[in-house]
Amino acid sequence: MKNLDSKSHVRGESVYLDDIPLIQGTLYACVFDSPVAHGKLNAVDAKEAEQYEGVYKIITAKDLIGENQIGGIIPDEPLLADSEVHFQGMPIAIVLADSEENARKAAKKIAAEIEPLEPVTDPRVAAAKGDLIIPPKKFILGDTENAFATCDHVFAGRTEQNGQEHLYIETQGAYAVPGENGAIKVYSSTQGPTAVQRAVCRVTGLAMHQIEVDVQRLGGGFGGKEDQANAWACICAVATQLTKRPVKYALHRMEDMRMTGKRHPYSSDYKIGLDKDLNIVAYEVTFYQNAGASADLSPPVLERTLFHCTNSYFIPNVTATAYSCRTNLPPNTAFRGFGGPQGMFVIECAIAHAAEKLGVSAAEIQRKNLIFDGEEFPYGQIAESEAITTWTQGDEKYNFAQLQKEADEFNAASKYFKKGVAMMPVCFGISFTKTPMNQARSLVHVYTDGSVAVSTGAVEMGQGVNTKIAQVAAKTFGLPIEKVRVHTTNTQRIANTSPTAASAAADLNGKATQIACETIRTRLLEVAQKLVESASALDLSFADGFVHRNGERTSLDWQTLVMDAHLSRVNLSEHAHYATPGINFDWTTAKGHPFAYHVYGTAVVGVTVDCLRGRYEVDYVKCCHDFGSSMNTEVDYGQIEGGIVQGLGWMTMEEVFYDTDGKLRSNALSTYKVPDIYSVPKEIGILPLETNRENLAVLNSKAVGEPPLMYGIGAYFAIRNAVKAFTDCSPDFDAPFTPEKVLLNLHTL
Ligand code: MTE
Ligand code: HPA
Ligand code: MOS
Repeated sequence: MKNLDSKSHVRGESVYLDDIPLIQGTLYACVFDSPVAHGKLNAVDAKEAEQYEGVYKIITAKDLIGENQIGGIIPDEPLLADSEVHFQGMPIAIVLADSEENARKAAKKIAAEIEPLEPVTDPRVAAAKGDLIIPPKKFILGDTENAFATCDHVFAGRTEQNGQEHLYIETQGAYAVPGENGAIKVYSSTQGPTAVQRAVCRVTGLAMHQIEVDVQRLGGGFGGKEDQANAWACICAVATQLTKRPVKYALHRMEDMRMTGKRHPYSSDYKIGLDKDLNIVAYEVTFYQNAGASADLSPPVLERTLFHCTNSYFIPNVTATAYSCRTNLPPNTAFRGFGGPQGMFVIECAIAHAAEKLGVSAAEIQRKNLIFDGEEFPYGQIAESEAITTWTQGDEKYNFAQLQKEADEFNAASKYFKKGVAMMPVCFGISFTKTPMNQARSLVHVYTDGSVAVSTGAVEMGQGVNTKIAQVAAKTFGLPIEKVRVHTTNTQRIANTSPTAASAAADLNGKATQIACETIRTRLLEVAQKLVESASALDLSFADGFVHRNGERTSLDWQTLVMDAHLSRVNLSEHAHYATPGINFDWTTAKGHPFAYHVYGTAVVGVTVDCLRGRYEVDYVKCCHDFGSSMNTEVDYGQIEGGIVQGLGWMTMEEVFYDTDGKLRSNALSTYKVPDIYSVPKEIGILPLETNRENLAVLNSKAVGEPPLMYGIGAYFAIRNAVKAFTDCSPDFDAPFTPEKVLLNLHTL
């Protein structure tokens, strides 16, 4: 089934933040942000701006009624700079005016007196100075020190990975509207309505029941709006509180790129030890995460890097250490994969390094070390592994050896174009790694005309979660999907939500919806039992909008039943709660069972490099992917294709560039390249893994949002293999592998 939004999307009728009709008297906000990355803020001169046409008010830190603080995990992030600025783009003042244009022009008239301090942009420099966001985190399995002594081969090296701009099509923004008795309603383009509500309460000093947050849908979030929608919602809410007027702020693209954080860059050291049969015996890795100027979500991102540091492999001896380093960049944040891709890249580099030195293919080492059922991840969870099955079923369909042979034959005959092939297994844990976040609620109403409305904490951001939730309700009630409508995500209907993140929204909110619908279904079947004079409600079921007895349609239709139930004063509404069972994690031992299940997959990636120009094309990404049993293949295939392209972009052409002053140079789409239609793979092959294992996914349909992004990592190694086929070289493990870097490796002078 197609995503329920597809028709309104293509007609341009879907409603985003910027499409909400504005109330008379609405003011427009614009932020004046720091022009330098680090300094003492001595004074803000807003006199000229105050006089500017249409300007209503200018707000600085001292005007806030509540606390000047939006740090969700660690209170280290002021909403507006007061004594210091920590990054270029840090908000200093809010201009309110009668039009967007006047607000933006007036903001340019503000001047700040800033005494410059030395900016730090390199995470290793920050670590050397001891400037860490949190104390280092460590995962230990076995004993690496003794294990390395037994290894036949030991290799060590360093990797660099860059950040990634989210580039959601809809930029960040919010619209705050005053209500009765000081209440405020906030429309926000956020993945975390409750996170916005909490942050707004903090900066306004209001109670949570005075703040209503409402989200229709997002034009993409990709993690960038899990935490970082808060600032703009707070800016609008604070302005509404101070002016009693509705206030809107939708960022321009360049404001968004300059002021918001991105995927975390990492610099890492690895050491890998193998025995003579290519078993990986020991792995030591140290991650330096570039967190930016404040914590934001860096601590849990850092943790997920550790969780995924051995990817799909079983390694009996692992020591993994991770540092979250404070630098003078915008706070980096969640991005599809949430630190997992960064952990996986490093182990793949270590394997590629070992393969190169030993003269074997990386695939041989990868295949040999895939995790089996019953083997242990470094964090103590025991694998229920599909690593081997995705590899072998993929191999049966795509014939990996044949693909490699075709590339070798092509390379033997071609001088200036070379093909490279790489395998990319993926294993991604599903659940928020912070156990208490794995809960959700759903509110289901059956109206007397038989139509059904569902509200949950899930935010629709293009990933199709509303379609899946509607499917759950339609299936439970045996109704056509048109009878079900999923309402906006609203903190007055659903309280204390976890953000829509960790690929877990469909599972958590879908399960809550299933529970709510089943409760109503049971009540309705009891009513039906009397109406169709059945001996037992157990003989009855719903299908095609009718009550069925022992599988045969009766004359009692859904709508008649619903009305009858209502007249009999039966409750047609239900608010249900779901909490993932069986998960736990203890940070004092760094062991537990944090994930409801893992999603596995194996991809093979093929590229062709133009060795005169350094350009490349991705010929194919073919994967065998573990969907469990997908409840919506059209949505899920879309997630796989989108994830792969986003992963490829991160590894190849997307280059976030801050200069040493902490100024973002790749601050527009002219300087920051993302994959377009010409750079998507010529072929994307998706083979669903055949398995009938039980899992904790909703209707056994496994989470799909993030895992496919990591297939894109294979492109990095495929390009590297093609480069090595042209010239005898060993490119540094430095991602992204831009055409410029490829060219420099092809032709060392
Ligand atoms: N797909 C689209 N179209 N837009 C998005 O913003 N976000 C991704 C993924 N797929 C995203 C997307 C991220 S980062 C996550 S965590 C999941 O969707 C969240 O949604 P889910 O939990 O419903 O899978
Ligand atoms: N994944 C995504 N988002 C999160 C997580 C996680 O594990 N924990 C907190 N926010
Ligand atoms: Mo996704 S990075 O968990 O929003």
